[in-house]
Amino acid sequence: MKKIGVGLLGLGTVGMGTYKVLKSQQTEMERKLGVELEIRKIAVKDPQEVADQVEDPGLLTDDWREVVGDDSVEIVIELMGGMEPAKTSILAALKAGKHVVTANKDLVAVAGRELLDAAAENKCDFLFEAAVAGGIPIIRPMKQCLLGNNITEIMGIVNGTTNFILTKMEQDGMEFQEALDLATELGYAEADPTADIEGLDAGRKVAIMASIGFHSRVVFDDVHIEGITKITSKDIQYAKEMGCTIKLLGVARCDEEGIEAYVCPMLIAGEHPLAAVSDSYNAVFLHGDAVENVMFYGRGAGSLPTASAVVGDVFDIARNIQHGCCGRISCSCYKELAIKKMENTKNSFFLRLLVEDKCGVVTAIAGAFAANQVSIAQIIQRQSKKGVAELVVITDSVKEGDLKKALETIKAQETTREISTVLRVYKAEKGETQ
Ligand code: NDP
Ligand code: HSE
Repeated sequence: MKKIGVGLLGLGTVGMGTYKVLKSQQTEMERKLGVELEIRKIAVKDPQEVADQVEDPGLLTDDWREVVGDDSVEIVIELMGGMEPAKTSILAALKAGKHVVTANKDLVAVAGRELLDAAAENKCDFLFEAAVAGGIPIIRPMKQCLLGNNITEIMGIVNGTTNFILTKMEQDGMEFQEALDLATELGYAEADPTADIEGLDAGRKVAIMASIGFHSRVVFDDVHIEGITKITSKDIQYAKEMGCTIKLLGVARCDEEGIEAYVCPMLIAGEHPLAAVSDSYNAVFLHGDAVENVMFYGRGAGSLPTASAVVGDVFDIARNIQHGCCGRISCSCYKELAIKKMENTKNSFFLRLLVEDKCGVVTAIAGAFAANQVSIAQIIQRQSKKGVAELVVITDSVKEGDLKKALETIKAQETTREISTVLRVYKAEKGETQ
């Protein structure tokens, strides 16, 4: 039986999960692949600290170079995270003719092209299924099963921590901080949860998915990002009353004008399948011209779910090595499409305003909208206390730049006390559940 050597960089949450899944598959993998995968070296920061957690502590080293430089290692699995030394180690591995698997979305979202080019140059595989939505297969389906489609939209819930927080706010009436504390206690949120709650983690995943789905490079900086820190229980309550729920959505769309990509909290209709995705679960919904709508649902994070995707990539490479066909599916960005400015994107909006309860105030607000081509779908005066009324406005699908101008005018009106909430409302592509 041929043996293929594997090297691991990092033995944290996903690294340990990957180690366990590889070990648990030891006998099955031979029958599944016709080849045996053997872990030959593992780089960690402190070998002593993890020595009792691995079968063979002799494999541990505190230097990633020893893994990448080991002649018996054919596949390197990078699970240290962050930019460095992850990038340098991956480039060194590829240069040495080793195949690489990573879950590192931070790196792939900014340096994907460079890494894929290095893989192609060295006729190696560079796979990163786990970088988007953890255990949910999405990259391989887009690169292979759905390749016969022109994909026009990819959207979804791709951050488990924020979905957990919003679920707790909606279902248990928690305020943001209370829900975040619980997410931290349960181990969903990172020690520093900024990347989760500010939408950066989801933004990286959107950049990767859009690049693959639309065959045109989208990097992290191309994605407009807003987090969930300003969402209040009042917003959630109003959304509920309108038959909607608030989700942190990552949205990427492609049309003749180019690509739009953003992450932001949005209202989504209760009947949409994504509205039912709760707790720390993730789901990705995409629309292709042939397949119509496809939804992928599951665990977007966690040790074993993410390891499942990592090991799937490793097995794929083992098959390629067996059949002498590595580098078969490489960079698929053969187009150079424009990235749309956010002000040119179109959405329906949910607005909450505090205004003086006086005659003519609503007319003045409606006038500001009309002067900027913002069509109103609904306007409701919710309540009036001490001469201040709360107005809820839902717009039709309008250009974001036009809405901004209208809101600037409204803000400057003497009778406006506060623009409390501005949230986009997700409207489905043709054929999706509204
Ligand atoms: P962890 O922080 O749990 O694990 C990373 C490990 O790598 C730590 O043990 C760290 O050691 C070690 N490490 C860091 N630098 C070095 C180095 N120079 N040499 C050797 N070891 C090093 O992170 P995760 O396992 O959660 O994440 C790993 C990757 O997977 C990241 O890219 C992440 O974005 C991605 N990912 C994670 C998911 C999850 O659910 N956790 C889901 C999907 C993707 P130390 O702790 O001492 O710093
Ligand atoms: N912190 C991420 C989440 C997991 O909450 O979804 C890693 O992608």
